[in-house]
Order: sequence, then C-alpha cells, then structure tokens
Amino acid sequence: MSPSKKILICISGSISAYKAASLASALKKKGHEVKTVATESALKFIGPAALEGITGQPVLTDMFNPGYEIPHINLSEWADMIVLYPASATTLARLRMGLAEDLLSAIFLSNNFRKPYWICPAMNINMLEHPAVQENLKILEKWGARIIDPDEGVLACGTVGKGRAPEPVPLAEMIEEAL
Ligand SMILES: Cc1cc2nc3c(=O)[nH]c(=O)nc-3n(C[C@H](O)[C@H](O)[C@H](O)COP(=O)(O)O)c2cc1C
Repeated sequence: MSPSKKILICISGSISAYKAASLASALKKKGHEVKTVATESALKFIGPAALEGITGQPVLTDMFNPGYEIPHINLSEWADMIVLYPASATTLARLRMGLAEDLLSAIFLSNNFRKPYWICPAMNINMLEHPAVQENLKILEKWGARIIDPDEGVLACGTVGKGRAPEPVPLAEMIEEAL
C-alpha cells in the first residue's frame, strides 16, 4: 500500500457514472483520501448520498458554493492526482475548448497538469469513434493528460464494442501503482 494520497475524482454525465462510487470505495480501502466533483448531468446518474457516504466528503458541483471559497483553485491545490471518471463526450469537448463554466472544467484549467490528470472516456462506440471525440482526446493527451483506454464489451445501449468505463478495482490498482 502506498502512503496516503489525495485523489480527486471528477465525474461527468455518462451512464457509467455509478461506477465512480466503486472507484472511490476501492481507493478509500487503499487508505487514500478521496473527494468528488460531479457535473449536473453526472448527478442524474448517481446520487450524492452514495458518494458522500463513501468519501465522507460533500460532492461539489457548483462553482458558487457558500463555505468553499474559490473551490476550483483549492481543490486543484488539494489533490495529488485528478481522475476524470467517467469522461463524457460533452465534458471532453468542454475541456478541449478550455471552458471554465462549471467547477469540473475550471479545476482542469487551474490544475494545468501540475498534478497527474487521468481521463477515462466512456460512451457508445459510435460516439467514441467520432472524429470530434478522437481529436479532443488527442489534444488533451498532447497537453499532458493521460487517456485510459475504455474497455470493450457490451455497452449500455446493447452494442458490443469499445466504450465501457474501465472497471473500478483494476483502475484503482493502476492509480495505486502510479502514485
Ligand atoms: C441514459 C443516458 C446515458 C448517457 N450515457 C452517456 C455516456 O455513456 N457517455 C456520454 O458521453 N454521454 C452520455 N449521455 C449524454 C450525456 O449525459 C450528455 O451529453 C450530457 O450533456 C453530459 O454532460 P456533462 O458532460 O456536463 O456531464 C447519456 C445520456 C443519457 C440520457
């Protein structure tokens, strides 16, 4: 087990957002501190109670949170590592454009790759293979993000192919090794 680290899981609106709770749990079991930030869409796929119960920390979505002064800067400073899990196509486009209109994307900019930033795309195979998504991933990787290849298998839509979010426990192992 590596010494305790601070890991920020950023959750966007993919159907696999529910897996973020298992990733948080696996990392907590390894002795790490975990906080979560979710987009508004992500919270349609997973409720805050599960994430808050597992991490013991509030899930932040809003940039304008009373009691959390300048949360995007504070959370970037706090984290030893940031994992965007799962990464939706919309969030990837937002990051690639350098927008800072929500907390998750403002954290991406303010971290500016000073700490490792991992991206785990999860979406339907046609979305994943779309040139818009592929170009966005290439640019994010060129800037300094680490792109974790999605798993292959049966997707939520019933199609078989690439696009599944990596399973939380093996991903937690990869994070542990990287730390
Ligand atoms: C049932 C359902 C499942 C979805 N699954 C995905 C997905 O796996 N990946 C993805 O990129 N978008 C998915 N979407 C679309 C996103 O939720 C939508 O683009 C949303 O705007 C993403 O917002 P965010 O990136 O701000 O979280 C899904 C939408 C619905 C209704």
